[in-house]
Amino acid sequence: MSKVLVIHGPNLNLLGTRETEIYGTVTLETINAKLTQMASEANIGIEIFQSNHEGEITDKIQGAKEDADFIIINPAAFTHYSLAIRDAIASVNVPAIEVHLSNVYAREDFRQNSVISPIALGQICGFGAESYYLAFQHLAGLLLSKSE
Ligand code: DQA
Repeated sequence: MSKVLVIHGPNLNLLGTRETEIYGTVTLETINAKLTQMASEANIGIEIFQSNHEGEITDKIQGAKEDADFIIINPAAFTHYSLAIRDAIASVNVPAIEVHLSNVYAREDFRQNSVISPIALGQICGFGAESYYLAFQHLAGLLLSKSE
């Protein structure tokens, strides 16, 4: 069975109460439940991981090498400066989609640079929780066409 690894970066555990005017009131539990349901319907394995720590996220990505077919990652603030996370994704050779709830290009200048995007398969941002679901749908389509 194919497997998708979903990684949520720092402070995303606070979704639901965190800056709700930007991120809305959806909780991480709701997002994870929906992704889990989508995965089960598509017969795709899923692992979901959240961490506030760069090293833990780096370790998780390294582990994906033998373990996952795709990564969906919201690196949160690490998007804008973590070369360790970027290098880990580039090293494992597992295609990764970068997602953001908010439209980072409509926000502060420092959010408009992603060190992850150049090595990602693509980026989806600005659609709230839907950004994750769109990423999943895309990967599910890719996996389906690979198996046909
Ligand atoms: C975010 C955008 C980042 O700039 C920010 O640091 C986050 C969340 C988003 O999902 O919109 O923590 O990745």
